[in-house]
Amino acid sequence: MGNTATNSIESMSKNLQNVKCDFPILQKTFHGKRLTYLDSAASTQKPNAVIDCISNFLKNDYANIHRGVYALSQRSTERYEKARRDVAQFIHAKTPKEIVFLRGTTEGINLIANTFGRARVGQGDEVLISSMEHHSNIVPWQLLCLEKKAQLKTIPMFKDGSLDLSKIESLISSKTKLISIVHVSNALGTINPIKDIVEIGKKHDIPVIVDGAQSAAHLEVNVQELGCDFFIFSGHKVYGPTGIGALYGRYELLKEMPPYQGGGEMIESVSFEKSTFKLPPDRFEAGTPDIMGAVGLSAAIEYISEIGFDTIGKHEATLLKYAHKQLQQIKGLEIIGTALSKSGVISFVLDGIHPHDIATILDQDGIAVRAGHHCAQPVMDYFGVPATTRASIGIYNNEEDIDALVSALHHVQEIFK
Ligand code: ALA
Repeated sequence: MGNTATNSIESMSKNLQNVKCDFPILQKTFHGKRLTYLDSAASTQKPNAVIDCISNFLKNDYANIHRGVYALSQRSTERYEKARRDVAQFIHAKTPKEIVFLRGTTEGINLIANTFGRARVGQGDEVLISSMEHHSNIVPWQLLCLEKKAQLKTIPMFKDGSLDLSKIESLISSKTKLISIVHVSNALGTINPIKDIVEIGKKHDIPVIVDGAQSAAHLEVNVQELGCDFFIFSGHKVYGPTGIGALYGRYELLKEMPPYQGGGEMIESVSFEKSTFKLPPDRFEAGTPDIMGAVGLSAAIEYISEIGFDTIGKHEATLLKYAHKQLQQIKGLEIIGTALSKSGVISFVLDGIHPHDIATILDQDGIAVRAGHHCAQPVMDYFGVPATTRASIGIYNNEEDIDALVSALHHVQEIFK
């Protein structure tokens, strides 16, 4: 982010009372009701700052990047590379060279599994994940383990949805080649103690990969403080566009990793006998990247940085506490995921009513929540439920939204009486 944004982070804290006005979609009505958007864990809505930035970029500055000698291409390239610097500053990477743009968190984990993972994991080895992972942090490792005849192990959790860290040491051996762990669970909201896990990893010389899909919009991420080797997040979950995400990797590791995809910008030289590849991050950005997405992500980062994570953290924690208190008063409602360290995700079941029915009826009241297994089927299995209804909080939510949810849930219960 440029100096302007940095200065504004220090000098101002945006008033979250008015933040809804920054999001045009939140002014819309659905089924004749004001939209109450409580599905930010699936995707966040976009502020005018992002929408206008993308539109202005396309009107004034867009061309393909890197290869053009003309002024417009150079301007576009500068915007794309500025976005990389913004991301590096946002998550406190040492250098923008440690930031690879890709489609999102899922692609990032697949990239690591197919390059770093494939080189590191061999027959009989083990990969350690947690029992609360999203499918995106299970399946790439399962595929790798299948290919390598390796084994996937999981750190167990307690009934409140927090990890049982006391079990990690007994799950680690000389065969453990990687730990890949979610920062914030999308199904439970649990915030995992990444620093502690990285410390254990370091003690055994095991690299740690962090799935930051659900944390980057809610907590200040400092990859150097966390000490992790890789961190990945998605643009569309931090108020930016879909189709763009960022992977952070320690440069010493990125440098040693083979390419993931071939073609375009990752090439140094090509002949029919042999090709050579650029250094990271270019090595991992084959083909024309999502230039517009990177520019939009940069605007999103500037927008949330202006608000600041102190403000975001306090607001979301207060709202989460309020939501828990109000929801727990509903007879027959059980919250799944009550860890002490928790972000704004509230998964719940309501006695005798299927989550899909709940979500469908809530929609009639203008309330957008998600129902299903949330791409975390092992979590559902652990809690013995096929699905949950999930309300998730963003910076634009307020107590009124929670009150609307609670009142609509009473309405659901009336219907099923
Ligand atoms: N992973 C996203 C969610 O939790 C889509 O809803």
